[in-house]
Amino acid sequence: MDLVYLDNAATSFPKPEETYRFMDGFYRTHGVNPGRSGFDLCMETGQMVDDTRKQLCRFFHGTDPDRLVFSYNSTDALNLALFGLLQEGDHAVTTTVEHNAVLRPLYHLATRQGVEVDHVPFDARGFVDPDAIRARFKKNTKVVAINHASNVIGTVQPLAEIGRLCRERGIHLVADASQTAGKIPIDVQAMNVDVLCFTGHKSLMGPTGIGGMYVQEGVELRHTRAGGTGVRSAQRPHLDEYPWRMEYGTPNVVGIAGLHAGVKWLEEKGLHAIEAHEMTLMRRLVEGLRGIPGVTMYCQDDLANHIAVMLFNVHGFEAGDVGTILDVDHNIACRTGLHCAPMVHEQLGTDNVHGGVRFGIGPFNTDAHIEAAIAAVTEVAAAGATR
Ligand code: ALA
Repeated sequence: MDLVYLDNAATSFPKPEETYRFMDGFYRTHGVNPGRSGFDLCMETGQMVDDTRKQLCRFFHGTDPDRLVFSYNSTDALNLALFGLLQEGDHAVTTTVEHNAVLRPLYHLATRQGVEVDHVPFDARGFVDPDAIRARFKKNTKVVAINHASNVIGTVQPLAEIGRLCRERGIHLVADASQTAGKIPIDVQAMNVDVLCFTGHKSLMGPTGIGGMYVQEGVELRHTRAGGTGVRSAQRPHLDEYPWRMEYGTPNVVGIAGLHAGVKWLEEKGLHAIEAHEMTLMRRLVEGLRGIPGVTMYCQDDLANHIAVMLFNVHGFEAGDVGTILDVDHNIACRTGLHCAPMVHEQLGTDNVHGGVRFGIGPFNTDAHIEAAIAAVTEVAAAGATR
């Protein structure tokens, strides 16, 4: 059988044809450095970059396209946001559902820069209770940093409710939308998200190496880097105005072009239609795996607030071995281990068995892929029963 790609939570693959074609075409005709010179090609390239800021600002319901800043990926944006907001004496609240993109910057801020960090656990279904976050608020709480949807168990957190609580207390909400941007609608204003961090290579259907953040008006991140912007080169300090405030050096033009085409494709298809397709496959997958003796799934009961990402283990095997068998014997690609989210596995107790096996469904998966995955896991579980 052809490759069954179920690692879309790591990166979407394949991309829409439109993404490949636009990247190739645009880079061949406009592979110059935008914002640095005044010749026509340079201006046209800059126009595509600005159009993409407008497109993404609209996509996330922002108000000012200049506050749509490009970065390498979500991790890069989260570093800029967290190091740009927190300093000695501040307190931050985060959760155990986070990816290392949030956990590690906060760990470094805590151990090297005197920031106090609290981790709120998720409940047995995989959700974080907004009241449990509120219970950690203190006088010096400056930031709540939360994963919109888990890259491990797929649960979607109540971002708007958490945003409302943060707004009441004047606390900045930083959201890691790595798994949700392009999967479920995000409205930074309605959800009171102060800094929304996203990556381009997952559900926004762009390439790797491009991401960004939307920074709400009134939120001024401190510079933690400095460099060339192509604007007011004689000025010694880095620029204070967005987007340059948070952009450094030559931008990833071909990446921005791919992101532009990916988001255009999403808008044409409609987020709801894609989500409905993925969740139909997800329901079938969960139902299929639920019926297999020896398979344990984690936090897959409430698919109402869920993206198409799931975690499981098979009795008799370590997660990594299941991944190898799925790959070698069945040509199924997935991710096993801790998924860069160690606290999720600590809380689930799956850290003892080297994590779990993750399937992530994308727009190009089909019924046949899901049936192949169910059949393959059935076979692995039957072998596990004899061990
Ligand atoms: N964050 C990506 C994942 O969950 C790489 O696999």
